[in-house]
Amino acid sequence: MTMVPRVFAVALLLGGASTALAKPLDVPFVPTPQPLVDRMLEMAEVGPDDYLIDLGSGDGRIPITAAREHGTRGLGVDLNPERVEEAQAAAREAGVEGTVEFREEDLFDTDISQATVLTMYLLPRVNLQLRPRILEELAPGTRVVSHAFDMDDWEPDARDRVNGQRAYLWIVPAKVAGQWQMGGGPHGPVTLALAQKYQHIEGEAMTEDGTTLPLQNATLRGAEIRFTLASPDGMSQEYAGRVEGDTIEPLEDGAGWQARRTATAEAFPDEAAR
Ligand SMILES: C[S@@+](CC[C@H](N)C(=O)[O-])C[C@H]1O[C@@H](n2cnc3c(N)ncnc32)[C@H](O)[C@@H]1O
Repeated sequence: MTMVPRVFAVALLLGGASTALAKPLDVPFVPTPQPLVDRMLEMAEVGPDDYLIDLGSGDGRIPITAAREHGTRGLGVDLNPERVEEAQAAAREAGVEGTVEFREEDLFDTDISQATVLTMYLLPRVNLQLRPRILEELAPGTRVVSHAFDMDDWEPDARDRVNGQRAYLWIVPAKVAGQWQMGGGPHGPVTLALAQKYQHIEGEAMTEDGTTLPLQNATLRGAEIRFTLASPDGMSQEYAGRVEGDTIEPLEDGAGWQARRTATAEAFPDEAAR
């Protein structure tokens, strides 16, 4: 079980805002130390083409650093208007007020669908409340970075520590679970059966003559899927493709194969709860 750090408990006891808030804060204000902000942005590989949303943005340091150091457009939302004013002032001081926006908003109401990077320093319970939306609403390949708290059984793709404080990175996986018909590859037409738990995938392929081939080295990173099929006669082929809804197209031009989904299955445990 993830422990809530003492710094949060102290902030809660000190009791928060002097301003009347639309609803009680779900998380007190505790800023992420700057060295960890820098590392979180590095882990997410943010760049000028990204749109970063920080849920519960506090004094705005994460979107402001991303804008100042990497040219990243960003949005920060915070329920506390004092924090929003602080963040807007800090953005002006950093000369990035045209690149980042700060809004007074409940993070549970924020439209996150356009984010290519989502950052959070919240609480385990809040992360888990957001998890189904993160998996459903964000495009495959979106990077999610959390300071301190994980997402329970959705394992991070990377983790790090700066001065003892943790950061986790997840890459939102495409949904690939189900049955696919693949044709045009060296193994001829095959039926692929893929099982998925978040970014972890496994499965097998059935050839036209009824031979079952296990999927080897199967990986899914965002929308990029890779696996190897090896037939008993020794023919081995690596497939690398991009998942777009119910099709997989090869990454390499002219590879000649394509896959189309014919039945879907559950990709994330949260789906069953909905
Ligand atoms: C731990 S601080 C993190 C600040 C900043 N993201 C950082 O890492 O430095 C959490 C922030 O979330 C804000 N917050 C708490 N509940 C919220 C809610 N329901 N909607 C929006 N912001 C919220 C608090 O006001 C606080 O500024």
